[in-house]
Amino acid sequence: MSSVLSCRQVSKSYRDGDHQVEVLQGLDLEIQKQEQVAIVGSSGSGKSTLLHILGTLDKPTSGELHINGTNVFSLNQTKLADFRNTSLGFIYQFHHLLMEFTALENVAIPLLIRGESVEHASEKAKDLLVRVGLGHRLTHRPSEMSGGERQRVSIARAVITSPALVLADEPTGNLDGHSASEVYGLLCEINQEFDTAIIVVTHDLRLAGKLDKCYQLVEGKLGVMG
Ligand SMILES: Nc1ncnc2c1ncn2[C@@H]1O[C@H](COP(=O)(O)OP(=O)(O)OP(=O)(O)O)[C@@H](O)[C@H]1O
Ligand SMILES: [Mg+2]
Repeated sequence: MSSVLSCRQVSKSYRDGDHQVEVLQGLDLEIQKQEQVAIVGSSGSGKSTLLHILGTLDKPTSGELHINGTNVFSLNQTKLADFRNTSLGFIYQFHHLLMEFTALENVAIPLLIRGESVEHASEKAKDLLVRVGLGHRLTHRPSEMSGGERQRVSIARAVITSPALVLADEPTGNLDGHSASEVYGLLCEINQEFDTAIIVVTHDLRLAGKLDKCYQLVEGKLGVMG
């Protein structure tokens, strides 16, 4: 079985004053190795909530999540952090790059956290930055780069550990059409080259339609689109 992610009967609710807001309601999702999946849905439908849970950054109210065969919510905090570092990569709309560090340092950080040498981490970070077309921006800080360039740094950072799964929340949300297409092209290349499964949350139906599968989040569950 080559399933990378298996999400079973996941529910998530938030308490809002005296009443409970049910965001996810018994949601199931299965993602195979190297599969590209888009998740669309109206604002407030719960896409980010779902992505946080799939990325193990938040716990569901109930339900189970297995990634690469590991029952992730059975791990303690330390093991879960290690698991995240080795198996998952994250790309956010607003990058979450560290502003005081250079592009090279930002990309190298996941490997340094793992305890790899500065030389090896820097070399790999440089290769990846060249790969995403930023060989001339290695020592620039995020404030010295454009939105599209920062997004490409985020992609390089997300894949430097060769994760089984990359999760992206509106990776092209603040980019113009041309940069958005470039970022998507890059995600697809990385998916092929590194055998990485990808989950992309987006509002852009045209881009979502280019991926292997597209799901719509409605009333706390996923339905196949198209
Ligand atoms: N920490 C929280 N506490 C209470 N309610 C929350 C919390 N986080 C999210 N919600 C609510 O859960 C619902 C889903 O939010 P979420 O951010 O997942 O939506 P989304 O689909 O990502 O929307 P958008 O497209 O605007 O980014 C919203 O109604 C939101 O108000
Ligand atoms: Mg969101």
